[in-house]
Amino acid sequence: MTNIGHDSQPLLQPVRLGALTLANRLVMAPLTRNRSAAGYIPWDLNALYYAQRASAGLIVSEATAINPFGHGGANTPGLYTPEQIEGWRLVTSAVHGKGGRIFAQLWHTGRQAPAETIPTGSERQTTLNLTKQGIALITAEYAQAARNAIAAGFDGVEIHGANGYLPDQFLEDGTNARSDDYGGSIEHRARFLLDATRAAISAVGADRVGVRLSPGGTFGDISDSMPWETFSYAVRELDKLALAYIHLVEPRNDRGEPAELATARFRPLISRPTQLIVAGGYDRASGNAAIAEGTADLVAFGRLFISNPDLPARFAREASLTAYDRSTFYGGGAAGYVDYPTLQAG
Ligand SMILES: Cc1cc2nc3c(=O)[nH]c(=O)nc-3n(C[C@H](O)[C@H](O)[C@H](O)COP(=O)(O)O)c2cc1C
Repeated sequence: MTNIGHDSQPLLQPVRLGALTLANRLVMAPLTRNRSAAGYIPWDLNALYYAQRASAGLIVSEATAINPFGHGGANTPGLYTPEQIEGWRLVTSAVHGKGGRIFAQLWHTGRQAPAETIPTGSERQTTLNLTKQGIALITAEYAQAARNAIAAGFDGVEIHGANGYLPDQFLEDGTNARSDDYGGSIEHRARFLLDATRAAISAVGADRVGVRLSPGGTFGDISDSMPWETFSYAVRELDKLALAYIHLVEPRNDRGEPAELATARFRPLISRPTQLIVAGGYDRASGNAAIAEGTADLVAFGRLFISNPDLPARFAREASLTAYDRSTFYGGGAAGYVDYPTLQAG
C-alpha cells in the first residue's frame, strides 16, 4: 500500500536526456506567465515559481525572446541583454538548488509579435520581409541566445518551433509565400528551422538542444496543405541531428485539428539518442500509458503544473489535484502563480 508509484508508474522512473539523467519523466511544459520585470528581466518572483516546481524531471522555461522583435506580450522574458542573463541566473540557481533541471525555450514570434513590443520605428520580422541577410542575423541570434542561456545557468535550450511562431511560419505553406530557397518546397520551408537548430547546436552542443513542434496545430492561424508530409520531413531531418529531444504537441480535437497528426505517428521517425517528449491534455493515467506503450519517452504537463507545483509527488501518491484558475494564467503577481499549495501544506 505504501509502494504505489515508482514501480507501477513509468512516469516516475529516471531517464537519460542528452548528458543528463533526469529523476523522472514528467516535464513541466513551457508556460508563458507574463510576470517578468521591466526590461523583460526575470526576477525573484519567477525564481520562486520555478523552484517550487523543481521536482519535475525537467522544466522547460516559458518562451523567451532571442531578440527585441521576438516577444509575445508584456512582461515576457528575453535572453539578449546582460540584465536578462543575470535575472535568469536567479531562476536557474534556485531550480538547481532544489535538484531540478531547466532548459530555456528560445522564442521568436515573427508575425505574432504584438505591436507594443516591437522596437519603435521598426516592423515585425516575418517570413515575408526578411532578406537572406536578415535570416542569417536571426540565426546568429539563436546561437547567441543559446550561449546566453548556458551563461545564465540553463542546462540546455529548446527551439520554439511550435504554435505558429517564426520557425513554424517558415515551415508551413499557409504562411510561407517566399520563392527563394527558404520557401516553396518542403525542403526549403524547413530550412529556417534547421538553420536555427544547427546554430544552437554549434553554440552549445546537440546534447543540450531540443526542438518543439506542433504538427497540425492551428494556434496563430497557421496551416499547411500537406501537414503529415511537412512535419514528417521536419522530424526526420531533426532526428539526424542527435538532439537531446524532440518535443511534440498533440493536435486538439476541440480546435478541429487533424487527429492523424497525433504524436504517436511520429514515434518511429525518432531514434536514440534523441528522446520524444509529448504534450497536450495528458494526465497521470494517459501519461503513464504513453510511456508504457512506448509512444513517448517523457510527458510534459502544462496546466497541471501551474496549479500543482509538486505534481510528481501527487502522481506518486495518486493524490487529488488542485484545479487551475485561468484568470491568473497571464500577468499579475503572486496570486495564481506562487500560492498554489503542495500536498504537505494543502
Ligand atoms: C498559460 C499557458 C501558457 C503557455 N505558454 C507556452 C509557451 O510559452 N511556449 C509553448 O511552447 N507552449 C506554451 N503553452 C502550451 C503548453 O506548453 C502546453 O502545450 C499546453 O498547455 C497543453 O498541455 P496541458 O494540457 O498539459 O496544459 C502554454 C499554455 C498555457 C495554458
